[in-house]
Amino acid sequence: MNAVITGTGAYVPPNVVTNDALATVVDTSDEWIRARTGIAERRIAAASEKCSDLAERAARAAIENSGVAPEEIGLLVVATITADTRTPSTACWIQPRLGLRNAVAFDISAACSGFIYALDIARRYIQTGAVKHALVVGADKMSDIVDWSDRGTCVIFGDGAGAVVLSECGTDIPVCESRGIISTVMGADGDGASLIHMKAPAPGTDGYALTFGENGALSVAPGRGDILKMEGNKVFVSAVRGMSEVAFKALEAAGLTLADIALVIPHQANTRIIDSIADKMGIPHEKLCVNIDRVGNTTAASIPLALDEALRDGRVRDGDNILLVAFGAGLTWGATVLRWGR
Ligand code: ACO
Repeated sequence: MNAVITGTGAYVPPNVVTNDALATVVDTSDEWIRARTGIAERRIAAASEKCSDLAERAARAAIENSGVAPEEIGLLVVATITADTRTPSTACWIQPRLGLRNAVAFDISAACSGFIYALDIARRYIQTGAVKHALVVGADKMSDIVDWSDRGTCVIFGDGAGAVVLSECGTDIPVCESRGIISTVMGADGDGASLIHMKAPAPGTDGYALTFGENGALSVAPGRGDILKMEGNKVFVSAVRGMSEVAFKALEAAGLTLADIALVIPHQANTRIIDSIADKMGIPHEKLCVNIDRVGNTTAASIPLALDEALRDGRVRDGDNILLVAFGAGLTWGATVLRWGR
């Protein structure tokens, strides 16, 4: 039973934070950030806009784009590391808002690999016949958990959400016989857990927020202990190796080579990581989908955001093979090969 993407959606908050604006609250510069990460600006949600709000907007757009009725969706998986509440899940907060009254709903935590992990769960629900339609969301409000005084970490992240509706290939989707997810390969190595980690919040603590003043000036609210810690340069090396290896494994599992791939959508971690993977694997740069310059690293939202953008830009045609590949905290990694069409 093929599982095909029948709709995509994305949302980024309207507040643009440029590198120059960041340099007013942390010791950095536009020149350093562009050269070391490829990022020019990122979107930062308002204090009142929660991760579930980002997730809901992207999910609503994906459902509308799919044409699937909300009550036909049997599964909702949200990949996030910035849930509004420890319990219930982000999925449970948005399930009633989206009218998904027949959906099982839960979150998964696999950081920047979260969307690939969640997509694989949904594919298996569909392939076993458990559900006909699933909604997969990657959403993160990273601005709530990064240490805005740690210039080595805070400059790379942005807020956003992306979503897809995944559907069983059936009589109502006639072209999907040879379309959909072809292969997924994933992995994890908990020996690297401390490289990117965050302590669970103490009950009752408030967010650590980058706030906007009336004149647009940025300021940083008082810190707390439960913020993201990252040893960026150690992660960098593992990310290049991990993404290249898992991408080749997913291609092999699909019975394809890089020459068969029309578009590669890597997790938007850092343009130097993306370029290194492209060089290591021999991916021509015109086949790479890159939007990190405008949105930063949006963790679980990164791949579905870029996929939605690529579709809207007409970069994906019916029958195109697409490679999605991610790496993140855990350490976790994953790659999916799919043939576009619906
Ligand atoms: N502005 C100016 N200088 C800086 C900044 C900054 N924002 N950040 C670090 N520096 C300085 C450091 O202090 C250091 O100075 P020193 O040499 O005088 O000591 C120098 O720049 C180099 O620092 P590094 O940390 O080695 O810089 P690096 O080139 O590794 O870049 C970065 C840091 C951008 C974080 C990079 O390591 C990276 O992108 N790593 C991968 C992150 C990633 O992919 N994470 C996985 C996904 S995230 C998730 O799963 C939640």
